[in-house]
Amino acid sequence: MSRSRGHTIMEVGPDGVAIITIVNPPVNSLSYDVLRSFKENFDQALQRDDVKAIVVTGAKGRFSGGFDISAFGAQKPEERPKPGWLSVEIITDTIEAARKPLVAAIDGLALGGGLEFAMACNARLSTPTAKLGLPELQLGIIPGLGGTQRLPRLVGLTKALEMMLTSKPVKGKEAFSLGLVDGLMSPDDLVNTACQWALDIMGRRRPWIASLYKTDKLEPLGEAREILKFARAQVQKRAPNLQHPLVCIDVIEAGVVAGPRAGLWKEVEASEGLIKSDTSKSLIHVFFSQRGTSKVPGVTDCGLVPRHVKKVAIIGGGLMGSGIATALILSSYPIILKEVNEKFLEAGINRIKANLQSRVKKGKLTQENFENTVSLLKGTLDYESFKDVDMVIEAVVENVSLKQQIFADLEKYCPPHCILASNTSTIDLNLIGERTKSQDRIVGAHFFSPAHVMPLLEIVRTKQTSAQVVVDVLDISKKIKKTPVVVGNCTGFAVNRMFFPYTQAGLFLVEHGADVYQIDRVITKFGMPMGPFRLVDLVGFGVAIATGMQFIQNFPERTYKSMLIPLLQEDKRAGETTRKGFYLYDDKCKPSPDPELKNYIEKARSFTGVSVDPKLVKLQEKDIIEMTFFPVVNEACRVLDEGIAVKGSDLDISAVMGMGFPPYRGGILFWADSLGSKYIYSKLEKWSELYGEFFKPCAYLAARAAKGIPLSASVEQANSRL
Ligand SMILES: NC(=O)c1ccc[n+]([C@@H]2O[C@H](COP(=O)([O-])OP(=O)(O)OC[C@H]3O[C@@H](n4cnc5c(N)ncnc54)[C@H](O)[C@@H]3O)[C@@H](O)[C@H]2O)c1
Ligand SMILES: *[C@@H]1O[C@H](CO)[C@@H](O)[C@H](O)[C@H]1NC(C)=O
Ligand SMILES: *[C@@H]1O[C@H](CO)[C@@H](O)[C@H](O)[C@H]1NC(C)=O
Ligand SMILES: *[C@@H]1O[C@H](CO)[C@@H](O)[C@H](O)[C@H]1NC(C)=O
Repeated sequence: MSRSRGHTIMEVGPDGVAIITIVNPPVNSLSYDVLRSFKENFDQALQRDDVKAIVVTGAKGRFSGGFDISAFGAQKPEERPKPGWLSVEIITDTIEAARKPLVAAIDGLALGGGLEFAMACNARLSTPTAKLGLPELQLGIIPGLGGTQRLPRLVGLTKALEMMLTSKPVKGKEAFSLGLVDGLMSPDDLVNTACQWALDIMGRRRPWIASLYKTDKLEPLGEAREILKFARAQVQKRAPNLQHPLVCIDVIEAGVVAGPRAGLWKEVEASEGLIKSDTSKSLIHVFFSQRGTSKVPGVTDCGLVPRHVKKVAIIGGGLMGSGIATALILSSYPIILKEVNEKFLEAGINRIKANLQSRVKKGKLTQENFENTVSLLKGTLDYESFKDVDMVIEAVVENVSLKQQIFADLEKYCPPHCILASNTSTIDLNLIGERTKSQDRIVGAHFFSPAHVMPLLEIVRTKQTSAQVVVDVLDISKKIKKTPVVVGNCTGFAVNRMFFPYTQAGLFLVEHGADVYQIDRVITKFGMPMGPFRLVDLVGFGVAIATGMQFIQNFPERTYKSMLIPLLQEDKRAGETTRKGFYLYDDKCKPSPDPELKNYIEKARSFTGVSVDPKLVKLQEKDIIEMTFFPVVNEACRVLDEGIAVKGSDLDISAVMGMGFPPYRGGILFWADSLGSKYIYSKLEKWSELYGEFFKPCAYLAARAAKGIPLSASVEQANSRL
């Protein structure tokens, strides 16, 4: 028997208003069970003579976070209601057309299906802070319960398109000014006012509105066509690989041109198709995987409760330290920033202020909040104020003996419970803690630069790091709105290690005759924010060579040793900061191809003794993509096999959030599994015979391919298939 997914409760007050409450913790999502239960209660309310009007609200101050996504795949085909049952039969012909008025009382979230349900009510009241939006496009589908039809009729096409295409919610206050809600109330007055409002509609003291047939907010047809045309062009430019935003615009247009009922049916038909698409399967996988990264077997399933971290110290106010400090004060953590002298301290504090200022400029922070946020920051040159810190994040330059000294000092000055985190990217954490007795509270916190912007945090644990400390850092990462991945110690951790072959493959192809700019074009068309060469230019050749050295040391057999980057650097071409690298950069940092580059490539070839391979000169797009990403997949398999990552889906999220791998391809291993382990293995095997060990498939990949098992399946899942 399947478990029930939520229900509704009805209470009828002496005023004759039935209050139906959605109960499906934690966000009161709409499942088929919730909707069936709502319909039963609603039918009863319509039949009862003592009920004059109806109010719908969500339990515990949350209206509804949306349609239950886990129900999409879970339903057996024979259990799925017929197309249109929900959006036409229930929402439109039963609820919106009822002979007693229904008012939505919205607090907390009204997202996706939640807002669509509310839009079918005859009026909506909300709190000023409630969040209302239609984020379905983020999941590769379109708003499904009539949202594509009702939102344009409530707020006009332009705003409706913006809300749907960006998936961004609006606050109650803005929703009121847009006409999406009819009144703003405090949470305490919300339900009572909604009851009175519903009675007023019944008594014809307020208008009785069916949103689906409203026309006053819709732009005239000619203007509407222009708006839709413009939206299509923008979508095609911004997301050329995605179909569903265009489908969404088509469905909206159908309603504008042929009327709302035609639009509703077109929405039903389009939704049926999109839910089966690879794009939506990938995006839904990313959605669940992202929520799954904070579940770590043996750590988060032992009943440990995160300790309250009240005060954090950061050592080093450089690029990383100031970025980390910015992220923390933005989430209300009081911070102590320690530097070596007044000059560096001031520079660090100024960097933090500049980070905050740029948020003020972008309208993400008010001037008043800027002042409040800055006041959380205290600078220091010694350890005096470290006696009550709960966590220290070390972010000084990469120097083992310096870091060892700092950790020995920290052990002296910090309380014994204090978490000691290092932001090191290259130094062994065990080595850093060697001179201390505190190895159980030492942990790595690998932020990506700039730390206050990039969404991922790698939490690096050693064998000694205690589960409690990992639980604590997971909690902090949630509070500073970073997606955490818990990883083990290895060169490059998860993200940089997996993506090391990304640049390497590019260098290999170019030395064998492929074109730098074509490779970058093909890879960006695939969906990466930038190709390998543009990326190296951005990171800078100094950093690229230093990381390259580490990989050569640790994985000599599979590192492709090219002299191209060192040769360019020797000529003072070190990437974007020098305005010259693989590209030339103008004043505005706009890149353009450099005809000179071929000279360096020829020189690099003579160093390596490589000659142009005619087969690799004119490559198909598909070949460039496979030769670039299959080595990345191969390395991801090793990371999984070595237990550096806990599960395959964590690597999918690492690729998406750490490297910008297109989420609509589901992440690196999800994408690989869509092609099949056998196929990837056979390609790598063939290339390794032709071109050497860089391409050699690892044992894990070989074993999975031999049995036809997905790369991301866990060992238990894999064994159960044998
Ligand atoms: N910058 C990046 O993109 C990036 C990315 C990943 C990892 N990392 C890692 O971050 C660390 C630092 O990087 P950065 O780019 O911010 O360097 P940076 O040189 O800009 O800043 C280092 C700062 O630490 C200060 N410092 C040195 N010793 C100190 C001490 N004993 N007490 C207090 N302050 C001290 C220095 O004065 C300097 O201001 C390194 O471990 C590095 O590997 C950096
Ligand atoms: C590393 O730090 C130590 C101790 O602070 C210092 O003596 C040494 O010169 C530093 N090494 C480098 C390469 O900067
Ligand atoms: C940590 O911070 C230092 C100084 O700000 C920086 O040089 C280094 O690259 C950072 N390392 C990591 C892993 O974030
Ligand atoms: C941690 O990783 C580094 C880099 O690969 C390695 O040198 C070191 O031995 C590792 N330490 C442990 C305990 O695995």
